[in-house]
Amino acid sequence: MNTKSEPEPLTGFGAGKVILLGEHSVVYGYPALAGPLSRGVTARAEPANKCQIHLPEALTQEQRKVLKAAFGRAMEACGAPGVKVSFDTNLPLSMGLGSSGALSVACARVLLKAAGKSTKPAEVARVAWEMEQEFHGTPSGVDHTTSALEELIIYRRKPGSEHGRARVLESPVPVRVVVVMAGPRSPTRTTVGALRERQARWAERYQRIFREIGMLANEGAEAVEEGDLEALGDVMNVNHGLLAALGLSSPSLEKKVHLLRDMGALGAKLTGAGGDGGAVIGLFHDTAPVVYELMRSGVDCFESQLAGPRAE
Ligand code: PMV
Repeated sequence: MNTKSEPEPLTGFGAGKVILLGEHSVVYGYPALAGPLSRGVTARAEPANKCQIHLPEALTQEQRKVLKAAFGRAMEACGAPGVKVSFDTNLPLSMGLGSSGALSVACARVLLKAAGKSTKPAEVARVAWEMEQEFHGTPSGVDHTTSALEELIIYRRKPGSEHGRARVLESPVPVRVVVVMAGPRSPTRTTVGALRERQARWAERYQRIFREIGMLANEGAEAVEEGDLEALGDVMNVNHGLLAALGLSSPSLEKKVHLLRDMGALGAKLTGAGGDGGAVIGLFHDTAPVVYELMRSGVDCFESQLAGPRAE
């Protein structure tokens, strides 16, 4: 047996995320609650003569262009270490579960490690932010911040600044959600852009709703810290109603929201950009029997604990 082992490739993980409360209004400076998923993106770095990215065959030409540009920004921020970076993911893509933020964080972690630099969450977030701007144009920053911190946070984009502020929320009880895929959707950029046009035309009405969603996010944070899941669920239901009022729901999303409520969800809502599809979350005391039932009937879903004490 050959005992001389190959050096292990460097790896970096970036968690996917769900927005519990406050998507879209977070773009306009109001607070949002978001938590990390156990699923995400893993980046691997192997020694190479120059810093480069392995682009998967399956990508379209446009996706390759964006990914290359995003990688270029991270490479520059990390001093271009001599590695070739490839990616693996177990996260459903383009579903509002933060796949680009997760990829940015995974890539930032592995490039910083390869360059022998600090991989503290603030450093990781700084590099990931460079990439996120290529992916999204004007992101609020909530996705990559949640992924870099790997905690349930209340996040607010600082007015006039490109960086946001996050506070970690501790819960005395487990906060568990079931994530259900409702179907393909348009890119975040498209949904955010269409909402921007509506809010520019009818600013007062739309700002009123954003403001109300911001208040719900603050109430949700309080409910998390008090371990009051019933209150948190109610806030989620109201938030979903307001997202629908903003034109961000669809028949496929509504169907899954009502399915989860019929199964006893304390609260259920769309998560992420929404629009014509994407994912829905349901808050439950006990997620396992719900996931079992849904999978038995062929519904694509998984569970995740976002905060609170974990079983040993
Ligand atoms: O890209 P998604 O679906 O994970 O949504 C991101 C959340 C938004 O609030 C819609 C956009 C943003 O930049 O915060």
